[in-house]
Amino acid sequence: MLLKDKAKSQCSTVLIPLFLILITAFAAVSGNSSLDIDKEVVMNLKSFLETHNRVNRGRFAEWNRRSSNPCDWHGVFCSNDGARITGIDLSDSMISGGMFNNFSALTELQHLDLSSNTLNGAVLDDLNRCHNLVYLNLSHNILEGELNLTGLNSLEKLDLSTNRFRGEVKFSLPAICRRLVVANLSMNDFWGQLDYFDGCSNLQYLDLSSNNFSGSIWTGFARLIEFSLSENYVTESVPASCFKENCSLQVLDLSGNKFHGEVPGEISNCKNMITLNLWGNNFTGPIPSELGSITTLESLLLGNNRFSRVIPESLLNLKNLALLDLRNNSFGGKVQEIFGKFTRLKSLALRGNSYTDGLLSSGIHELTNMSRLDLSYNDFSGALPVEIARMLGLKFLILAHNQFTGDIPFEYGDLSNLQALDLSFNGLSGSIPPSLGNLRSLLFLMLANNSLTSEIPHELGNCTSLLWLNLANNQLSGKFPLELTNIGRNPTPIFESNRRSKQMNVGPTECSAVKRLLTIDYPPFDFLYTILTMKTCSSIWDRLLKGYGFFQICSGGSSVREYVVSGYLQLRGNQLTGEVPSDIGKMQHVSVLDFGSNWFNGELPIEMEKLPLVVLNISRNRFSGRIPSEIGSITCLQNLDLSLNNFSGIFPKELSRLTDLNRFNISFNPLIDGTIPAAGQLATFGKESFLGNPLLQLPDFISGNQLPPLPLSPPPPPPGPPPGPPPTDSRDESELWKALVTGYGCGMAFGIAILYFSFRKREPKWFVTIVDGIHQWKAKRLLKRKLARRE
Ligand SMILES: *[C@@H]1O[C@H](CO)[C@@H](O)[C@H](O)[C@H]1NC(C)=O
Ligand SMILES: *[C@@H]1O[C@H](CO)[C@@H](O)[C@H](O)[C@H]1NC(C)=O
Ligand SMILES: *[C@@H]1O[C@H](CO)[C@@H](O)[C@H](O)[C@H]1NC(C)=O
Ligand SMILES: *[C@@H]1O[C@H](CO)[C@@H](O)[C@H](O)[C@H]1NC(C)=O
Ligand SMILES: *[C@@H]1O[C@H](CO)[C@@H](O)[C@H](O)[C@H]1NC(C)=O
Ligand SMILES: *[C@@H]1O[C@H](CO)[C@@H](O)[C@H](O)[C@H]1NC(C)=O
Ligand SMILES: *[C@@H]1O[C@H](CO)[C@@H](O)[C@H](O)[C@H]1NC(C)=O
Ligand SMILES: *[C@@H]1O[C@H](CO)[C@@H](O)[C@H](O)[C@H]1NC(C)=O
Ligand SMILES: *[C@@H]1O[C@H](CO)[C@@H](O)[C@H](O)[C@H]1NC(C)=O
Ligand SMILES: *[C@@H]1O[C@H](CO)[C@@H](O)[C@H](O)[C@H]1NC(C)=O
Repeated sequence: MLLKDKAKSQCSTVLIPLFLILITAFAAVSGNSSLDIDKEVVMNLKSFLETHNRVNRGRFAEWNRRSSNPCDWHGVFCSNDGARITGIDLSDSMISGGMFNNFSALTELQHLDLSSNTLNGAVLDDLNRCHNLVYLNLSHNILEGELNLTGLNSLEKLDLSTNRFRGEVKFSLPAICRRLVVANLSMNDFWGQLDYFDGCSNLQYLDLSSNNFSGSIWTGFARLIEFSLSENYVTESVPASCFKENCSLQVLDLSGNKFHGEVPGEISNCKNMITLNLWGNNFTGPIPSELGSITTLESLLLGNNRFSRVIPESLLNLKNLALLDLRNNSFGGKVQEIFGKFTRLKSLALRGNSYTDGLLSSGIHELTNMSRLDLSYNDFSGALPVEIARMLGLKFLILAHNQFTGDIPFEYGDLSNLQALDLSFNGLSGSIPPSLGNLRSLLFLMLANNSLTSEIPHELGNCTSLLWLNLANNQLSGKFPLELTNIGRNPTPIFESNRRSKQMNVGPTECSAVKRLLTIDYPPFDFLYTILTMKTCSSIWDRLLKGYGFFQICSGGSSVREYVVSGYLQLRGNQLTGEVPSDIGKMQHVSVLDFGSNWFNGELPIEMEKLPLVVLNISRNRFSGRIPSEIGSITCLQNLDLSLNNFSGIFPKELSRLTDLNRFNISFNPLIDGTIPAAGQLATFGKESFLGNPLLQLPDFISGNQLPPLPLSPPPPPPGPPPGPPPTDSRDESELWKALVTGYGCGMAFGIAILYFSFRKREPKWFVTIVDGIHQWKAKRLLKRKLARRE
């Protein structure tokens, strides 16, 4: 017993000091090390992010206090010796809310990437104390206010693009910017003197596009590799002295400003230039012939200016020139003969030049390597040239808005690579040639607003990739060909080949293409107009051609919303007769059906419920029979016009379930019977949606300008005095309440509305997410207006 105790105590006397030594040693290694402090800061960052993002979380959620080494965590980077945290990457991590206020506690932080989130509010002073930052990326958020990064004198790469920052550059950016190499301020509201950048002697990539810069240009830009000033308000001229002998520019983008005067020939000092974009200014005088010596030039965009009409012969020397854009220069008269000699061009845009003649004499039609030809908005007349059918490389042929007359040559059916054929808004007559059915690559066929007659050829059904077909406003007659339901059945091969080809996106001037091909006053396309900038256009165009959806649509009659391609079929304003075949249910990619102002009759096929419809307009036809109750299950329907038909029977109450509906018209179907439910989406429409239906019972508040009924079990009146609000108020409230309950999740719609406003001018982080919210925003706006009107 005793011995044992003694041994024990001896043991302790040895062990305890040993233990102490170990502890001290351990503490020396890790106890209060700077890495521990850094780790603490990062844990604070994590809990900050978690309080602001309760539902969706990025991978920072995996950061774990118990796993000892933060250098192993996703998005955390350490110095080479592993002693300090030097980088945080939280890009694309589903973070919303304000900025973390203690990055500066990471005293060795060099790399901070918070891009592609939905961070909002102001950038805190704390960030300006991160003096060691070399890389800062805040792009694609909704951060706002004035920015002060004047203390970040070590910055080399700075990306602030696509936010809502404003203020003068010299008070926003590093006070000493000698180390700056990349600066992207695109899509904000910055302004101020551009000569701030004189001090940034190492700068190579500067993107100031879509801001508020005005005044005159910064003359030092030619020492950069890329310079974009696109979409600002810079005026005056571009002095020759900008282009020093040693100009190193590869990309110069001055588009969308207010430059005037001549383009100096000295621009040819930029011997490595690949892209020159002067589009959308007020340049005058000759196109400088010196451009012909920049042998590296691939894209030359001179459109929307007032250049004189002589195209210098020297441009023919440009062996690499693939894209030439000279639209809207008011050239007039005959097409300059020189265009027929640009044999290497892939894309030629001469749109909007008031040409009257010279299509053949110029020899443009012999440019058989061309893939994109845009001659729209001119004054060409006479027959469409058959010769164009030999330009077998063509993928996009845009001849819309001219005065071409006569038949569409059947030879156009030989253009087997065509993806878009746009002949709309001309005076074409005759029938649609069946040979167009050979165009198996076609995505867009636009023949609207001509005088085409006879039947729609059933051969068009062979166009298996055709997703956007617009034949509106012609004099087509006969039946809806059964085969037409096959169009767009399988666009995948075309999309896949477009995804493989690098050069789909041929320039920053695609807005007109997007607008023309998506023509459209209809959702989901119409709101696109409000957010189109040069940048968003090219990305929309690109997504479109590659088959990535940018609307969330309920496909296949389900209520699950997915990003899918949404095609259309526009037949409005013709003389089509007979029944719409039930096979229409096979057109799985069609979101807009516009059959208005035709002579269709018979019943509306219930198979329509299988389509991912957003718009269904069959106004001004002779449809009869019952309105299919199945329409009530087209969850994403926003726009339903059944007016001026001959429907009969009981009105299907199921339509009240269409909570996305924001335009509805059942007027002038005098045989329709039944009752419009007082609750549900239909009750949010005014009486103009129900005109001329004598048998149809409307709720009083729609038919008689009366206040809506009280809910079935009204809330108990407030006990005793003080008297409650006047009855009208409580009625309004109950109306509001009802609309809220029977409508959609307004809270969500409202949140999205706010987001929408924040994003209005710019391309959001995921342009897609916003786009997705818009229809809800619109529905909400409509509801609000309706409620306001009744108050
Ligand atoms: C920042 O972090 C450090 C270290 O964790 C801490 O001492 C300091 O109080 C924090 N500051 C703020 C403003 O939270
Ligand atoms: C900033 O982040 C965005 C999105 O994550 C990325 O596309 C961009 O290239 C980054 N900018 C720089 C300068 O690295
Ligand atoms: C700047 O950012 C915008 C938007 O994020 C992007 O489109 C553009 O290509 C960037 N500019 C440069 C020079 O990287
Ligand atoms: C370019 O030339 C100008 C004078 O013409 C000179 O001041 C400047 O230092 C040169 N820049 C470079 C990068 O060589
Ligand atoms: C272009 O310049 C002319 C005269 O120089 C002027 O009348 C016209 O308004 C200018 N156009 C634009 C768009 O600034
Ligand atoms: C088409 O381009 C190829 C090279 O891409 C060239 O060899 C050929 O001559 C061009 N065709 C014409 C008619 O210029
Ligand atoms: C298109 O055609 C319709 C019907 O013929 C006509 O009302 C409309 O004005 C035309 N649109 C244009 C822009 O010419
Ligand atoms: C349906 O089309 C007609 C023209 O045919 C048009 O007047 C009407 O506004 C359209 N309805 C809706 C709801 O867009
Ligand atoms: C309308 O429909 C009724 C029966 O549903 C039919 O008797 C009548 O002839 C139709 N009227 C027209 C103009 O088609
Ligand atoms: C519904 O259609 C009728 C007939 O075209 C029209 O008079 C009425 O204004 C339309 N109602 C709405 C809400 O557009």
